Parts: sequence; C-alpha cells; structure tokens
Amino acid sequence: MLSPLAAFVRGLPKAELHLHLEGTLEPELKFRLARRNGIELPQRSEEEVRATYRFHDLSSFLQVYYPAMAVLREAVDFHDLAYEYLRRVHTQGVRHVEMFFDPQAHTSRGVPFASVVSGYRSAIVRARREFGISAELIMCFLRDLPAEYAMATLLEALPYRHWIIGVGLDSDERGNPPRKFAAVFERARREGFLLTMHCDIDQPDSLEHIRQALEDIGVDRLDHGTNIVSDDRLVELARTKGIALTCCPISNSVVTEQMKAPEIVTLLDRGLLVTINSDDPAYFSAYIADNYTALAEQGELTREQLITLAANSFRASWITPARQEAFLGEIDSYVGRA
Ligand code: HPA
Ligand code: ZN
Repeated sequence: MLSPLAAFVRGLPKAELHLHLEGTLEPELKFRLARRNGIELPQRSEEEVRATYRFHDLSSFLQVYYPAMAVLREAVDFHDLAYEYLRRVHTQGVRHVEMFFDPQAHTSRGVPFASVVSGYRSAIVRARREFGISAELIMCFLRDLPAEYAMATLLEALPYRHWIIGVGLDSDERGNPPRKFAAVFERARREGFLLTMHCDIDQPDSLEHIRQALEDIGVDRLDHGTNIVSDDRLVELARTKGIALTCCPISNSVVTEQMKAPEIVTLLDRGLLVTINSDDPAYFSAYIADNYTALAEQGELTREQLITLAANSFRASWITPARQEAFLGEIDSYVGRA
C-alpha cells in the first residue's frame, strides 16, 4: 500500500532528464543477458549481485558499474535494457525521458557503435507505440579517457545524429575538468547537438568545474551541479541563463553521506530550474518516484514544491515549447487546477 505522498508522486506527470541506460541493468536482466550470450557471471544469484552494490563514492560505484556491462553484446541486448526501463517508468507518471548512454563503454570492448545505438533506438520506437512514452538519447563521453577518443566517438555518431539529441560527459571527474573536452563540445555544438555535462557531487574543484561548464563550454543543462549552491555568482548566472540542474537525491546519498536535500531545496527557492531524477536506478534501488518521495520527506517539501519540480522537468527538457505546454496542462489537470 502506497503512502498518500508516494501515491501523489507516482501519478504526477513528469520527465526524467538524468538517467543512465546502463544504470538500469537490474540483476534479473543481467542474468538473462548473460545466459543468452553464454557468459559466466562471478555471482550465482541476484542476491549475490545485489550484495556487490556497496559504494562509498563515485569511483567505487564506477568500479562495479563498468564491468557489469559485459553482458551487453548485441543490439537486442541494448533494446531489452532500454525497453525494460521505459516499461517500468511509464507506470510512475513518466511521460518523457532524455536518457544517457556510454558508447565508449561498449566500443572499447569491441561492440559496434551501430549495435548500441540501433538497439536503444528500437526500444524507444517500440515503447512509444506501446506505452505512449517519449524518449531521446544523449550520448556521453567518458571523461577519464582521452579527449581524442571522445572526438572520434562524436564523429562516429554523426551518421546517427537524427537519433541523438545531445551530448554529455560522465565517469570519473577527478582530474578530468570540462575544459579537457572544450574542442569536442565545440564541435558537437556546431553539429547541432545540445550540450550537458556532469558536475558531480563534492568533487575536487567542483565549483571551478561548474564555472567551466557554464562559462567556457556554454552548456544548455548541468547534471548534478548541486555544489553551485555555495557560489552566489554562479547561482545567479545559471538562473539568468535558465540553465537547469538535474539533481539525483538518492544517488547523492549513495556516493556521499547525504541526499543534499537542504541544498536542493535552497536552489529551488532561489529560482533555479531544479529537476529530480534517478541517475542509476538499478544500482541505487530507487526509480524516479522514489527520488521525489525521499526528497519530499527529507526536505519537508510542500505539495506546491513537488508540483514545481515536476513542471521544471518539462521546462528543462529538450522538447518543443508546444509539447512542454501540453505536459504542463496535464500537471494542472492532475492537481485539479485545470
Ligand atoms: N556520475 C558520473 N558518471 C556516471 C554517473 C554519475 O552520476 N552515473 C553513471 N555514470
Ligand atoms: Zn549521472
């Protein structure tokens, strides 16, 4: 039985803007794909897989995250991963998703780029037809690999540009500032991609990385970016430029000690386009509705603040203004304002 808060959150129309497709690999699917591809897993059961999900920071998470992807080999595997995620979240009020994927985590293992992108794309088309959910792909570069590899990946993606709405930057941020990828992002912008990038929680040089993303790269959105709260000038810059933050409360509580609820609420109160998302839901055992509910409880959010967060998710998304208005109208109907 859902609590009244959880039930309200679940029905609230919303978009998800910070979601790693590879982070939706549930142990059950991992076993299914391993069996299909004839791969022997080190763990014997789903419980044993879950037991390896113990993280204390971003690096320890990434050390479990990347090896798990070995079960993804063929286009159909990528299809199944994305399809299972879309099937699950369309029951949680999610109307639209902008989903990250990490092609280099697969091409570096010999999986063709085309298998990755065509598998994901076929799931998007199928889920739209079956569930009415819309989705876009954002291609992330792995920031701990050389900028030249990112540039080569960007060029490899150009024949598929109609399937990829934007580019992002993820993986280990330590020693890998946004500036390292300035030429890649500049080229991506020229090729017509929208730009976003991770500025993870409590990293060395967090504020300088956020500054570079906003001022030197000129991103359209910022992933996490919550540390901006301690720099008034950058908060004002993001606010006046309308740069949204894709916050992930439960992910924060896994890679640091806290959900950062007070910081997220402060940013919302200061008029930033704050959104709530799940990041890597299979690894953090929490999908988007769980993130809204947990934040509402920890941050003592009002119903109005929850509605603002859902509205922000559409305002910050990369859909047309007309579709944004239509989704905002759906929120109004849901909360009885229409
Ligand atoms: N940060 C960096 N890399 C990632 C993340 C994240 O939140 N999730 C998956 N890869
Ligand atoms: Zn992320």
